[in-house]
Amino acid sequence: MTNRKRPKVYITRKLPDAVETRMRELFEAELNIDDKPRTQPELVAAVKAADVLVPTVTDRIDAALIEQAGPQLKLIASFSNGIDHIDVDAAARKGITVTNTPNVLTEDTADMTMALILAVPRRLVEGARILMDKPGEWTGWSPTWMLGRRIWGKRIGIIGMGRIGTAVARRAKAFGLSIHYHNRKRVNPVTEDELEATYWDSLDQMLARVDIVSVNCPSTPATFHLLSARRLALMQPNSYIVNTARGDIIDEDALIQCLREGRIAGAGLDVFEKEPAVNPKLVKLANEGKVVLLPHTGSATIEGRIDMGDKVIINIRTYFDGHRPPNRVLP
Ligand code: DGY
Repeated sequence: MTNRKRPKVYITRKLPDAVETRMRELFEAELNIDDKPRTQPELVAAVKAADVLVPTVTDRIDAALIEQAGPQLKLIASFSNGIDHIDVDAAARKGITVTNTPNVLTEDTADMTMALILAVPRRLVEGARILMDKPGEWTGWSPTWMLGRRIWGKRIGIIGMGRIGTAVARRAKAFGLSIHYHNRKRVNPVTEDELEATYWDSLDQMLARVDIVSVNCPSTPATFHLLSARRLALMQPNSYIVNTARGDIIDEDALIQCLREGRIAGAGLDVFEKEPAVNPKLVKLANEGKVVLLPHTGSATIEGRIDMGDKVIINIRTYFDGHRPPNRVLP
């Protein structure tokens, strides 16, 4: 960094040791060793004092908070791919740059999506729990016991064909699924050919024709409850839904209703509308074997978290070197 004064960097959560060590070397870093989520008053104090705020998806960086930032706050370098927890417009109004950590979570999140795509129809958690929770109860193999649904040969409908959606499609194709997708715009013909993918301009029509729906679009005002009660009702009774994107893209109450009434066969959810609260009705459905629930661990790998930290550091250094940070998010 050309700037001799080390920027004051306030990090809201505990980060991997290697990342924190590097942050300490480079910046005047205020860490969160206990990993206790910061309260809103603590964040207010931070934006009044720090040059850089490093939040994660668990922080609410809304307009009310950003309005209170002191003139020294120059950069919000989020330790996240998604930026739905930050009011990017409010930051732009205050002249604060926002960055994120794209690309490095893509493959890990796609792996976890695939894990749920396999786990729900093949009853993976239900089977494992029989051995874990009721030792001795398993009487052996039976031709008619614990039957799930075949995955091979089915149609997957991917909502959001960005980096993660495309990575899910590659995996799904290798598992013998045919690829269908809905996106704001059609992907390039080379990718479409490689994936032998069918584009659906109409989400409604795609939902009615696929066996597994994978939600891979960002959470924005336009995607809030994209899978509404009306749209969920279009899905086939033998179909499944998997969400590793954001909880609010699905109307969770409507999903619960559909699952309870058997209007769709099952769901795999890594994200929830009111995280970290999980609707007890979903937990009940999980205990009945209809859903698999994960605690937002789609991107949770050691390598991925270190890569995210590296990206945050590069974004901060580039900014204070007087250049445009590589992962700047535009309002
Ligand atoms: C992100 O960074 O957006 C992820 O959801 C965290 O796993």
